[in-house]
Amino acid sequence: MAINFQVTTMNSYSVKELLSENLLLQEVTINGWVKTFRSNRFIALNDGSTINNIQCVVDFESFDEDVLKQVNTGAAVKITGTLVESQGKGQKVEIQVTGLTIHGGADPETYPIQPKKHSLEFLREKAHLRIRTNTFAAIMRVRSALSFGVHQYFQQNGFNYFHAPIITGSDAEGAGEMFKVSTLDSKNPPLTEDGNIDYKEDFFGKETNLTVSGQLEAETYAMALGKVYTFGPTFRAENSNTSRHLAEFWMIEPEMAFFDLNDNMDLAEDFIKNVIKYVLENCQDDLQFLEKRLLDEEKTKPQAERSEMPLIEKLKFVSENSFKRVTYTEAIDILRNSKPNKKKKFKYPINEWGADLQSEHERFLVEKHFKCPVILFDYPATIKAFYMRLNEDGKTVRAMDILFPGIGEIVGGSQREERLDVLKEKMAALGIDEEELWWYLDLRKFGSAVHSGFGLGFERLVLFATGMGNIRDVIPFPRTPQNAEF
Ligand code: 4AD
Ligand code: MG
Repeated sequence: MAINFQVTTMNSYSVKELLSENLLLQEVTINGWVKTFRSNRFIALNDGSTINNIQCVVDFESFDEDVLKQVNTGAAVKITGTLVESQGKGQKVEIQVTGLTIHGGADPETYPIQPKKHSLEFLREKAHLRIRTNTFAAIMRVRSALSFGVHQYFQQNGFNYFHAPIITGSDAEGAGEMFKVSTLDSKNPPLTEDGNIDYKEDFFGKETNLTVSGQLEAETYAMALGKVYTFGPTFRAENSNTSRHLAEFWMIEPEMAFFDLNDNMDLAEDFIKNVIKYVLENCQDDLQFLEKRLLDEEKTKPQAERSEMPLIEKLKFVSENSFKRVTYTEAIDILRNSKPNKKKKFKYPINEWGADLQSEHERFLVEKHFKCPVILFDYPATIKAFYMRLNEDGKTVRAMDILFPGIGEIVGGSQREERLDVLKEKMAALGIDEEELWWYLDLRKFGSAVHSGFGLGFERLVLFATGMGNIRDVIPFPRTPQNAEF
């Protein structure tokens, strides 16, 4: 390792450095993977540091034929040479190669990532190699930048990063879509007298699951540290095979003491805008590439299905304009009187107040009616989780969802019920055991206060920022029903 370190600090550069710093006429070393090798002379080399390649010019007479034969797409090589102004078009600088070493070849007969168009479906099956394509490298660099932007936003705004447990005994969303965590012998589990599985014998002495949300635990920390956020993996065993659902996804959950629903909405909007600005400022090359990719992809689609704005313009639009805020009740009125509802175009027609909104309704509101991100709030209590604060009307709760064009729901949040008696009543009505959430109820007994928070699905944000259409393409190794390869 020490040798490597020395090499990288001496004259070894990344492609990004070679292209952006003034290193003309210097002797440089670079390691990377061959994208293409043209005319036995031009190697396009990439090392993942940028979407751009560096052109390396080889004088084939000066190199061993056996070495040159191994310069195939996908091979890992080390190149030494002088950085000069390029003679050709398409790049400012190039390397005149004096030294060429093959780290590892890639047999063109069997290496699946050849320099041609591969379908996203094909690449999903090669998830360990798809990152070698321009598209996936760009997506994952944007994903990385977005993560940093998330941390930067919260750290600069006085939030503490809170690590929620991954294994939990509570079901935050009450939806029962949890993955069990158990070390019991599934073929021969210990049974209680009445024939049920005896979880007292299990590793934790009780039933445990992978978390669906760190919210309940985050609330305990907000009620001491004031402002906290989680950013970690969450798991849902919902059998939704859609382009918006994963069984394992990353969620960002800020939780703030002394914030009401309006403060919560203000924060969520400001947060999303800032994170998008962060990628606009830091990922220009990748965004330009992804914008062009999207335009090419959409050429094959009918006009009506194409995006209204190119990617970068859309990101700017969202980061610079106010989100529209409307109550659930107003939204239902709009939907009930909408053309698709009257013409029976919705799969789920909107008839009554109280219906849960389907993604077709959310997308109508955002994409057709308001044409901007929308925050819906004050939902019927019956379609939302137990912990949301009941309004004075006794039938709606202080919930809010943020809906995004092309995505649908990107954020779900609420002001939390801070009144012990109201919370207990609500839990009793839903059959939630007080014993199980004794610690959650304690927060309402000792120093309770107004507090709020929300959860943003990180992959949905990455989808939006990259213009990709399927959530399986914005997480390195997607976990979906019937699929946990790699
Ligand atoms: O709306 P949800 O279920 O809200 C909660 O879990 C709250 N406890 C959050 C909070 O208030 N702290 O999920 C939040 C967001 C959704 O808006 C969506 O963006 C994302 O998480 N999400 C998923 N993303 C990918 N795959 C799934 N299966 C998702 N389920 C939810
Ligand atoms: Mg939700």
